[in-house]
Amino acid sequence: MLVKKIDFPVQNLHDLMEEILPELAHQNTNKFNLKIITNLLKTLKIHHPGTYQHSLNVARLSAWLARELGLPQTEIFEIAIGALIHDIGKIKIASSILDKPSKLTDEEWQIIKKHPKIGIHLLAEYNWAHNLYPMIAYHHERVDGNGYLRLTGEEIPLCAKIICIADAFDAMYSTRPYRPKLTLTQCLHEIKKNSGTQFDQDLVEPFISITAKI
Ligand SMILES: [Fe+2]
Repeated sequence: MLVKKIDFPVQNLHDLMEEILPELAHQNTNKFNLKIITNLLKTLKIHHPGTYQHSLNVARLSAWLARELGLPQTEIFEIAIGALIHDIGKIKIASSILDKPSKLTDEEWQIIKKHPKIGIHLLAEYNWAHNLYPMIAYHHERVDGNGYLRLTGEEIPLCAKIICIADAFDAMYSTRPYRPKLTLTQCLHEIKKNSGTQFDQDLVEPFISITAKI
């Protein structure tokens, strides 16, 4: 079957919402406050445009993967929203650290590793955001237990595992201050190499199949 190729990276938030959430963007507006989410994303765009762009890309990839896994529409919607703000805590981290071209010091690493916790803190006042917490808190967990909080395998919610693989792929498929962008082939090689250690092995083949759209 011919796969329709889509522009990558994502061009803007509005087009992304239309593309990945065509019918749900209108039906589920009561579940999440999209105005607050949009405002948080605007702040992120000003503070660190690279993380904003990354968030849009991860939302698209996560929604594609959730759909590929056959999850219900409401969960696809929730995962897309969670992916959009998975790194929102980085608005409180200095761009000099986020963009540092050389190796981070131990102290700087400790600061970076706080971003999931900061993200939860930023959303704590919103009751509607509670379902998004696992995606923000656990997207750096690895199934082998070597992630930020050392959760393993089944302890990590599926929604966070989906964002984890989309996040890692987009990080590799983008230019970073400390290294050039990898090719699609190199990225997929890394994803396969880390199946069962960094990534849930049940997500690897479905993820590889969705990247045919890029
Ligand atoms: Fe992150």
